[in-house]
Amino acid sequence: MARITLRQLLDHAAENGYGVPAFNINNMEQALAIMEAADAVDAPVIIQASRGARQYANDVVLKHLIDAVAEMYPHIPVCMHQDHGNNEATCATAIQFGFTSVMMDGSLQADGKTPADYDYNVKVTRNVVDMAHWVGASVEGELGVLGSLETGMGEKEDGHGFEGKLGHDQLLTDPDQAVEFVKATEVDALAIAMGTSHGAYKFTRKPDGAVLAMNVIEEIHQRLPNTHLVMHGSSSVPQELQDIINQYGGQMPQTWGVPVEEIQRGIKHGVRKINIDTDNRMAMTGAIRKVFAENPGEFDPRKYLKPAMEAMRAVCRQRLEEFGTAGQASKIKPLPMSAMAKRYAAGELSPKIGITRVAAE
Ligand code: G3H
Ligand code: 13P
Ligand code: ZN
Repeated sequence: MARITLRQLLDHAAENGYGVPAFNINNMEQALAIMEAADAVDAPVIIQASRGARQYANDVVLKHLIDAVAEMYPHIPVCMHQDHGNNEATCATAIQFGFTSVMMDGSLQADGKTPADYDYNVKVTRNVVDMAHWVGASVEGELGVLGSLETGMGEKEDGHGFEGKLGHDQLLTDPDQAVEFVKATEVDALAIAMGTSHGAYKFTRKPDGAVLAMNVIEEIHQRLPNTHLVMHGSSSVPQELQDIINQYGGQMPQTWGVPVEEIQRGIKHGVRKINIDTDNRMAMTGAIRKVFAENPGEFDPRKYLKPAMEAMRAVCRQRLEEFGTAGQASKIKPLPMSAMAKRYAAGELSPKIGITRVAAE
């Protein structure tokens, strides 16, 4: 039984001072690439599907895909997570289809575009926590709206993200409010806003503290040392992947992502889940472009999807090593969701606020 809940996995990560990348999938090739990387380095994994991914691949296909990889790799703990759930129903149906964890992103209203107020966020997140914990599933909440501190804008290329311009008050999570939010919702993990945004165009230069506010993470971790923090929009947008895409006919303007060393600094301050989609999209795209540029007559999908999988596998493996996830899979014994439900019911997993964690950091 390789399926694991986010809560059990991140508790292990906190106790052992490492972070876990959460990779997005939309298809079989991406799922296999992640699992091959995890298997190669003995790492547990978080596989996540957005609402768009669920629509693209179909819930039934995703359910069986995860069953398939769990059966193929019984020694690798796999957490299947709903990325950016927009309302209670999205989270409930994810659990119905075998997800062990959900994100209720109440930082935006159910349309996924309009910034929500604090009371709305607490209400919908609490509803999902109550429902999910009854069956032992985990919940990630979000406080603060993801977007660029440089421009005040959200991401444009994904379905989920605000439209228009916001001020720093909304783009940076307030550390005191974070304490109130965790108390009120009892989330298992908290996504925070500190200047990252989704997609490739995060920063117009290598980011410094003015545009990537890692100090916010440190302040929140000081107040909530037992809460697992989540960094969204954490692709590093490697220069070499930009170059491959552009070398083979792509047109990506120069851009910067989140440097791996900043994520590693975050991991020292309570960051346990790191969301990565764009780097894998770029790796696959670069590999496919190369095949088409070098063999314009090629039309067998396996001829370009295989190199695409290999390129994604390399990115996943690198992050699993960089975040300290490698070598951890064999140390974890996944608990079934029914056992987690009992632990919630017994109050064992309620937030511990104001208590210093004794951790090997
Ligand atoms: O939330 C952002 C992820 O990159 C998923 O993007 O909504 O296009 O599937 P998506
Ligand atoms: P990137 O676009 O930086 O890969 O972020 C993905 C993400 O946060 C998914 O929730
Ligand atoms: Zn995200």
